[in-house]
Amino acid sequence: MLYFGANFPPTVQLFKMMKFQGSHILSVSQFDRDAIAKILHVSAQMAPYASRQKRCHVLDGAILSNLFFEPSTRTRVSFGTAFNLLGGFVRETVGQENSSLSKGESLFDTAQVISGYSDVIAMRHPKMHSVEEFAKGSTVPVINGGDGANEHPTQALLDLFTIQSEMMHFNKGLDDLNIVLMGDLKHGRTVHSLSKLLSLYNNVKVTMVAPKALQMPDSVISTLSNAGHEVVVTDTMAGNLSCDVIYQTRIQQERFASKDEADLYRGHFSLNKSVYQKYCQENTVIMHPLPRDSRPEANELDTDLNDLDNLAIFRQAQNGVLVRMALFALTLGVEEQLTEHEKPVNWFTNRNN
Ligand code: CP
Repeated sequence: MLYFGANFPPTVQLFKMMKFQGSHILSVSQFDRDAIAKILHVSAQMAPYASRQKRCHVLDGAILSNLFFEPSTRTRVSFGTAFNLLGGFVRETVGQENSSLSKGESLFDTAQVISGYSDVIAMRHPKMHSVEEFAKGSTVPVINGGDGANEHPTQALLDLFTIQSEMMHFNKGLDDLNIVLMGDLKHGRTVHSLSKLLSLYNNVKVTMVAPKALQMPDSVISTLSNAGHEVVVTDTMAGNLSCDVIYQTRIQQERFASKDEADLYRGHFSLNKSVYQKYCQENTVIMHPLPRDSRPEANELDTDLNDLDNLAIFRQAQNGVLVRMALFALTLGVEEQLTEHEKPVNWFTNRNN
């Protein structure tokens, strides 16, 4: 387990001896297998609340500040939904132009102020390591919702939860996994974080399919290979897509110098039904962190895959609520109190039939 030792206020701890309560969640490097097992276990316990079979108001009165300084649909809304589902209130700010960061306020000062208003903070920011910088000024736990091209730890955890759920159908777990990561692996923070988590498991094979200029950073490849895993780096799909899971990613246009530069790579590795049937195994599970780019020039994950049971992308996005609920429960120290705070659902819902 790695620890971040320096510069954190004494009221906020990082993981030590599996201590979640009061911890920031900034990087997947904080976790060992036991910590991940705990998160996945608590995530599964959230299913009855997320599916409206029951309510749980264990965080009644608590406040989440949801600070999104970069566009988001899933992460922002699912953080808010997760907190609401546990009974808490959500305050949001969206876009740097609507915050006092645009007036020159530092991340440290913003954190000092916002943490005084909140019990926990979720944050996305376009600059690498900015969430870590922000956390140094916070007196409450800060959860990284994506910091530039660096990391997206909550996405990686929900990806792992999804892989575990999907593999259960085939009597497999997270060990002995054969996974293909494809697309913009250089800028895609989700695949950086996921690769680091996969390195903790046994006998994993990771095939990285990307144009040479958009391949996975060497540091991420080293994390996997130094842990003894087989890593295949290639710029061709042919013969390389036979796997348990294929994880497609978007060309991250916002990380390129210009749209024209991003356009050079768009559409190179489109996955559609005919490619899937030609190169993948019968049961290969298809994942994508979303949003997928469905414009004709990109079409990285064709909608003709939508009728395949193995397309897990929308189950994956739903799992984000469970995992984020678990992280709130763990960082705020209420994971053992869930059943004490259960209530019935009083309104019509077709999800709990
Ligand atoms: N997967 C993901 O981070 O999606 P959003 O950018 O919509 O939050």
